[in-house]
Amino acid sequence: MGPDTPRPAPLKFASPLIDEAAIAGVADVLRSGHITSGVWVERFEAALSSFCGGRPVRVLTSATAAVEVALQLLGIGPGDEVITCGQSFFTVLNMIVKTGATPVFVDCDLVTRNIDLAAVEARIGPRTRAIVPTHWPGSLVDMDALHALARARKLRVVEDAALVIGSRWRDRPIGAFGDIVTFSFHPNKNMTTIEGGAIVCNDEEEARRVEVLRFHGIERLPDGTRDVAFPGGKFNLPDVNARIGVAQLERLPAFLAHRRRLVERYFERFATDPACVLPPRPVEGDGQSWNMFCVLLPLGEMRMSRKAFRDALAARGIATGVSYEALHLCTLGRRYGYHRGDLPNTERIADSTVTLPLHAAMSLDDVDRVCAACAEVLAEQRRPAPVQA
Ligand SMILES: Cc1ncc(COP(=O)(O)O)c(C=O)c1O
Repeated sequence: MGPDTPRPAPLKFASPLIDEAAIAGVADVLRSGHITSGVWVERFEAALSSFCGGRPVRVLTSATAAVEVALQLLGIGPGDEVITCGQSFFTVLNMIVKTGATPVFVDCDLVTRNIDLAAVEARIGPRTRAIVPTHWPGSLVDMDALHALARARKLRVVEDAALVIGSRWRDRPIGAFGDIVTFSFHPNKNMTTIEGGAIVCNDEEEARRVEVLRFHGIERLPDGTRDVAFPGGKFNLPDVNARIGVAQLERLPAFLAHRRRLVERYFERFATDPACVLPPRPVEGDGQSWNMFCVLLPLGEMRMSRKAFRDALAARGIATGVSYEALHLCTLGRRYGYHRGDLPNTERIADSTVTLPLHAAMSLDDVDRVCAACAEVLAEQRRPAPVQA
């Protein structure tokens, strides 16, 4: 590129697609005078429920709120242990700690990044109450093995499905079976409500308790007054957001199909020397959704740090992320006695992962640009081979 060549537009890390019909729909909600939770929340919940095979769904202001309410719903509190994966977002650590329970971290697979179920089984003890696995784009946790283990050991499961709405397991969508499942509708997810989340329940009784827990813990009494028996939160989703959610859910199949085409292009074009570790390659009919495309840098063969690599991409107008830091090694995680070396795959991922742009507003050319930039930066930074004596 010469000094006068126009620079291509910066490529964002995430970029939600909200169409004019949804914007007009939001304007209608605003004009209606009923802007907080109401009829659009009911419609959104009904649409999500039919998406999840008819199971009851309740929406909240975030997936973080959904995980918090899920753990409260299960009655988890001080003295309990909850097993989760060191390779996930801070939500799972924070919400377990907020209940007063103890997080127990296990490792994950280096390529799929999903929780190691053999390690989960080994860590089950008398105080274990629940397992909170995070599903990864491109590869779900083995649902048969997970739920068989939970049933055998009488444990509850909260599937953190923030990244995978639309993924399928043996032809059924995530959320349509299992125990409790939570979704995120943050703008960098497969679909958005600006901020928002959902919790899929087993039955109407659980859903009713979620309604109480997401709104102050308020129970309405027959005499028209209200009571609070348990300190609930304030996590109800406004209709403005739910209106966007209804429109986004209709477009979800198209978003997912486009994301998948972009990922296939990444696999066709992503070639670096030294080589990065890539996520699992999509296979025809595998039912996987793709929220993120994360690679592991070959740091041992590079002269530059991950930060310098990300800066080099940023200088070329390409935004990147880190998904995720090791939960057991952050300051809060270490309070539970964890040290470097405890979860080797989680730590290797945390140290060397880079999340490349992947969103439905991207084109195949954008993917080519990212692949070319990664190859260029890594080729420049290859560590020289040691001189032979
Ligand atoms: C794996 C995972 N779980 C949960 C969350 C929390 O989602 P929210 O921002 O909707 O609270 C995130 C957010 O990025 C996430 O990546």
